[in-house]
Amino acid sequence: MKVGIDALGVAVPSMCIDLEVLAKARGVDPLKYLDGLGTWRMGVAPLDEDTVTLAARAASMAMKSAQASPDEIGMLVVGTETAVDHSKPVSSFVQGLLGIGTRCRVFETKHACYGGTAALMMALDWIRSGSAQGKKALIVCSDIARYGLKTAGEPTQGAGAVALVVSANPRLVELDPSRTGQYASDVHDFWRPLYSKDAFVDGHYSVQCYLDAITGAYKHYKELEPTVTANDFAALAYHVPYGKMAKKAHRQLRALENDPAPDASFETQVAASLALPAQVGNIYTGSLYLALTSLLSTSARPLDGQRIGLFSYGSGSCAEFFSGTVVAGAQERVKALGLQAMLDARKKLSIDEYEAIMRAREEADVKPVETKAADDYRFLGVDSHKRTYVGPRA
Ligand code: CAA
Repeated sequence: MKVGIDALGVAVPSMCIDLEVLAKARGVDPLKYLDGLGTWRMGVAPLDEDTVTLAARAASMAMKSAQASPDEIGMLVVGTETAVDHSKPVSSFVQGLLGIGTRCRVFETKHACYGGTAALMMALDWIRSGSAQGKKALIVCSDIARYGLKTAGEPTQGAGAVALVVSANPRLVELDPSRTGQYASDVHDFWRPLYSKDAFVDGHYSVQCYLDAITGAYKHYKELEPTVTANDFAALAYHVPYGKMAKKAHRQLRALENDPAPDASFETQVAASLALPAQVGNIYTGSLYLALTSLLSTSARPLDGQRIGLFSYGSGSCAEFFSGTVVAGAQERVKALGLQAMLDARKKLSIDEYEAIMRAREEADVKPVETKAADDYRFLGVDSHKRTYVGPRA
């Protein structure tokens, strides 16, 4: 049975900050962020947007693109590391906002940035096993990446969501869940204690942990697919905390096959996957899938019928290297979503506006929130300890 991604949707917050503006305010050479990290702009969520509203907006776009009705969804999972409640999952809010039916498994998954991939793999196996009984899965990766003001991680923040409709006979990418390379290791490279809104990270160590993980996962994948080499992938999409990390990952992967010029294939195999992430920043669980979306929507080359490789990394850590085949017509379908126009429509914040939002978010979970737009998914604040939202139905 062919299984994979049938449609996708992307949501970014309505605001962003140019990293050149941030660099100047922090007394840093802008080239360090733009070239050294490979990110130009990062998404900033105003107080009436959060992990739930981003997830709902991305899911709504994916459902419309798939022309799927809410009752066709038999599994709704949100992968996130920035959930809004210790008990009630983000997916239940999304279920309500989109009107997904009651005959559905609805839950949340967590393993840092790997949480969405865990959900995707589960959905693929659920469909292949026959348990889905013809239904589709809606997998949403949604996060607000936040390290705090004036930290080393500050230029690698971001916010956004990617939703995937997963089904049999998919129209975007057929995935092969039977041959995936895995790697897990108990490391403390990046974490967020229960008492903190900001993540903590051992920055340079986290880069090494990511490289160890791609080494382990790719070696495992090659044991399962011994005849495949890096040259067999028309393109590769990596987890993208910042663009340069994807470059380091690619260099590592090619070096594992003793490629004497590991950067030579970067432009052809990787560059297109970084066009959208460079304008959004790190979106944690959704980062790999934003890279995949970028590949499909910005690659100048036709990818129909070609094999692509995907690498998911979650700190802590768990990682997976897997592959798929681009379905004919997928690039046109993703281009039709108009994602660049969505990015261009964001309000660009001044440094003062950005810092005010970062500080105000500390209290946003306990107070009512002012919102202007009733035609979109919005967080209204907390009433009797319950989070409330508005939004149009999918
Ligand atoms: N012009 C051009 N390039 C410059 C420059 C300049 N003026 N100044 C510095 N650079 C380059 C550096 O050479 C370096 O490039 P290389 O890595 O190729 O050497 C790059 O800019 C970054 O410089 P530093 O390493 O000195 O920067 P830093 O000490 O401020 O730390 C960081 C960078 C570790 C990524 C930090 O931003 C951080 O901690 N980020 C959060 C953690 C993270 O994203 N980790 C990624 C792996 S973990 C993961 O992937 C999970 C996840 O999503 C969090």
